[in-house]
Formats: sequence, structure tokens, C-alpha cells
Amino acid sequence: MGWSIAELKAEADACACARLMASSEPWVTLGRSYEASLAIIQDRTREVYLLWDEGVIAGFIILCVTGPFVGYIQTICIHPQRRGQGWGSRLVAFAEQRILREFPNVFLCVSSFNRDAQRLYERLGYSVVGELTDYIVQGHSEILLRKTVGAIADFRPAAT
Ligand SMILES: CC(C)(COP(=O)(O)OP(=O)(O)OC[C@H]1O[C@@H](n2cnc3c(N)ncnc32)[C@H](O)[C@@H]1OP(=O)(O)O)[C@@H](O)C(=O)NCCC(=O)NCCS
Repeated sequence: MGWSIAELKAEADACACARLMASSEPWVTLGRSYEASLAIIQDRTREVYLLWDEGVIAGFIILCVTGPFVGYIQTICIHPQRRGQGWGSRLVAFAEQRILREFPNVFLCVSSFNRDAQRLYERLGYSVVGELTDYIVQGHSEILLRKTVGAIADFRPAAT
């Protein structure tokens, strides 16, 4: 069966992702409930992709490809039992391919207390752009990261 990445379709899959998100750090510390998680996952202005491995949801990623700071990875989550095995790096690579087809920047935010994820993003070539203090919850920052292939004015989207 192997693994694949596919756009979210079924409501039951959205619910499974929301359960994953609401029960995992950093979202526990950030106070994100199941209902709030589901609302984000079902936001139709976003693109949501599921990582399937042997017929099971191994993780998901939410992309924002409209609006300001376009090309934003809003959420990435790998199932707790599958972390540290390269799945997150694969999902980020997929997101970068999707975004860099149309836009020259990939943005994402990482919580100040999420040192493990910060290490991963640094390794994947992301640079710190700035720090949003007390942004989601008091006492913790969100660190804005960016990976770029060049200036917007020079960028030519890939032909479709
Ligand atoms: C962050 C996350 C998406 C990375 O996916 P992954 O499949 O675990 O990562 P990979 O196997 O591709 O790369 C391993 C790296 O991920 C990071 N990582 C590993 N476990 C992690 C965890 N529980 N939480 C956060 N980052 C983790 C580490 O930097 C690790 O590198 P190391 O070998 O130097 O420790 C995944 O661990 C996860 O879902 N974590 C919880 C949710 C989260 O923090 N999301 C990111 C919000 S910005």
C-alpha cells in the first residue's frame, strides 16, 4: 500500500486530524480545543493535505495560499507514534513544492517553547524573521520563519 499525500476530503478524516491536533503539543499549551482545531481544519480558504501510510493517517499539513504573507504553513502535525522518522520533513518538502510553484516565499510560525520543531526548521533552511511576543497565549512567543527563493518582483510562477 505504501504512503501518499492527498488533499483532505472526508469529514471523518477532518475529525481525526482535529483529535490529533487538540491532544498534542504545542496546541495543548496554546489552549486549542478540539472544536477550534476542527474549525481550522475545515476552513475552506485553506488547503489541507493528509499523509497516509499503510491506509492510516500519519499526519497532516494546512497551507494558506491566499492573502498577505502568502505561502504560509499554518499547521503541521505528525502522529505521536511516527515522529522522528522523516515524515514531517517529507510533508514540509511537499508543502514547499506546492507553494514555490506559485510564490517565492514559504512562511511558518513556531512556538518559542517548541525547541524540537525549531531545530527541524533550521535544518530545513528556514530563517527567523521576527518574534511575535505574547501572540497566542501570554508568556509565549510565536517565531516567524521564512524560506525564500528570491524577491517577489523577480519571481516567475511555474507554468501549469
Ligand atoms: C514537528 C513535526 C511535524 C516534525 O515531524 P517529524 O516527522 O517528527 O520530523 P522528522 O522525523 O522529519 O525530523 C526529525 C526532527 O523533528 C523534530 N522533532 C522530533 N520530534 C518532535 C516532537 N515531538 N515535536 C516537535 N519536533 C520534533 C526534531 O527537530 C527532530 O530532529 P532531531 O533528530 O534533531 O531531534 C512532528 O514532530 C510533530 O508533529 N510534532 C508535534 C507538533 C508540532 O510541533 N508541530 C509543529 C508546529 S510549528
